[in-house]
Amino acid sequence: MSDYQDILVSEPDAGVMTITLNRPAARNALCNNLLKELADCLDASINDERIAAVIITGGEKVFAAGADIKEMADLDAVGVLNDIRPTYWRRIAQYPKPIIAAVNGFALGGGCELMMHCDIVIAGDNAQFGQPEINLGIIPGAGGTQRLLRTVGKSMAMQLVLSGEFISAAQARDFGLVSEVTIPEMSYPRALTLAKSIARKPPIAIRLAKESLLKAYETTLETGLNLERKAFTLLAATDDRNEGIAAFMEKRRPAFKGK
Ligand code: CAA
Repeated sequence: MSDYQDILVSEPDAGVMTITLNRPAARNALCNNLLKELADCLDASINDERIAAVIITGGEKVFAAGADIKEMADLDAVGVLNDIRPTYWRRIAQYPKPIIAAVNGFALGGGCELMMHCDIVIAGDNAQFGQPEINLGIIPGAGGTQRLLRTVGKSMAMQLVLSGEFISAAQARDFGLVSEVTIPEMSYPRALTLAKSIARKPPIAIRLAKESLLKAYETTLETGLNLERKAFTLLAATDDRNEGIAAFMEKRRPAFKGK
């Protein structure tokens, strides 16, 4: 796990893996190698039963300043067309376990998009969010126009993408991009508390809950309700569901096994 150059990986508590973006001199700009390492690291943990929840953070100063503009500068249209980066983004988007982002400082461009790939976002009150690609003569290229609009609505999505202006953590919370705002020193500890709590829950139910919630982005209500019902039915076949209900009846803590 420690062979990475642009991320730091740790297991700060049972069931939790923390990935720290680690290019401070470049404001954690998401160079190809960083994105590849992120996707590789997540993929490697999919079948690792010790990992139940993941935190992605950039530390206390900056989350990520977007795609690495210096790398982008070398790509012409054909280079962008053949770029491998979308495959890394797809792997991150398809990660089945919960990801919590602990965001301090700038989350811009691809950094804001990475944050939107995460399932829960805890932001320090020094965080700033934006899609400044327009200032470079481009537009968001990792889901910004799509995920932003679905989350914050048309007017604010247009404002962010067309003006390139940033919004504060409090505004991001008001618009549903972020679930909680803390002081910067507390964003990671709060994310860790949440991750530890999620790691103690029944993993199959957690996985199906995440899948059902994410489907709501991209399907009709009827299709989403059907998927939810099928997931709900499938869970009736798990030992963890029997254990959860038995523990409630017997007034004790459940011991989930992921079966
Ligand atoms: N790519 C490459 N390098 C970056 C970078 C980026 N996105 N953001 C910052 N850096 C580098 C700077 O070039 C600088 O390097 P040098 O010391 O070698 O000159 C170093 O990080 C520090 O940057 P600043 O001096 O600018 O730091 P600051 O604290 O004054 O400002 C900032 C921070 C507001 C984030 C500013 O750096 C900035 O505006 N960065 C670019 C933000 C941006 O436009 N992001 C969108 C990128 S495109 C994209 O993301 C496409 C997509 O959808 C995937």
